[in-house]
Amino acid sequence: MASTQRILLLNGPNLNLLGQREPEVYGTATLADHVQAATQAAQELGFSVESKQSNSSSELVQAIHVARGTASAIIINPGAFTHYAWSIHDALASFDGVVIEVHLSNPSTREPWRHESVVAPVSDGSIAGFGGLGYVLAVQAVARLLAR
Ligand code: DQA
Repeated sequence: MASTQRILLLNGPNLNLLGQREPEVYGTATLADHVQAATQAAQELGFSVESKQSNSSSELVQAIHVARGTASAIIINPGAFTHYAWSIHDALASFDGVVIEVHLSNPSTREPWRHESVVAPVSDGSIAGFGGLGYVLAVQAVARLLAR
């Protein structure tokens, strides 16, 4: 039975470099800044956030497995795994809570290989192109969807 108040916030490969990595694309805020903003938004709505970043798909899959039965929602920016990591697709399909996909940039306006998301089909919705605001919007979406 899922806890009603817990959100797992997952970030995939290279997102540990936010603030240094291609700031013209991803902005100057660090991952810690985004996690802090999402955590504050979640606390205001009565949720707690557990945050994990990994450059390894197996670690993300494992974290999703742990979330089964312990979290109500997963917010995930899978980084480049978005476009080919079917193991993350399958793990998310096994999770019966809310799933929101987040991207800082808008992959649909970038290179063609970024246009497909293998995570989108197992997400309740996707938020892309709003920079760090996307994480806060995702928290708000979780709260609204769980209140239904
Ligand atoms: C990203 C978009 C992906 O295409 C890219 O590989 C990333 C970041 C984003 O947040 O805009 O690493 O997920």
